[in-house]
Amino acid sequence: MAIEKTYSMIKPDGVRNGHIGEIVNRFERAGLKIERMEMGMVTPEQAAANYQEHEGKPFYDGLISYITSGSVVKMVVSGEGAVAKCRSLMGATNPLEAAPGTIRGDFAVDVNANVIHGSDCLENAEIEIKRFFG
Ligand code: RTP
Ligand code: MG
Repeated sequence: MAIEKTYSMIKPDGVRNGHIGEIVNRFERAGLKIERMEMGMVTPEQAAANYQEHEGKPFYDGLISYITSGSVVKMVVSGEGAVAKCRSLMGATNPLEAAPGTIRGDFAVDVNANVIHGSDCLENAEIEIKRFFG
């Protein structure tokens, strides 16, 4: 496995509920490195681009308004197999299915507000790093 860079983002509920430190700690403990980190808002344009694949689905409008509802923490995370590693630390999309010990399993209760985002493949990681860090 090679050193990869992925994009991860602590979503507005993760920030509001005070999980920034715990999440960064879990990444670092797992051997991932925080290369860049910035707090800020997601613009409606960035939200639409990031969730393009879900346009037209019943949860789409709610997803866009939620992800733009407050500050997030944008991160570039690197390490061996960082894309998959980050996804495995996050846990399943639906917190009801996320294993205990994963970030979503421990801190999320609602599929619509599930604490953290991570790129789902290397190709999207590159696109998302450009999208959020220019
Ligand atoms: P994300 O992109 O936010 O990291 O989440 P993910 O890869 O685990 O899941 P994805 O399929 O990309 O879905 C993006 C976000 O849409 C919401 N969602 N709701 N109600 C539903 O059935 C449903 N399905 C997806 C979730 O908030 C998910 O994180
Ligand atoms: Mg996704």
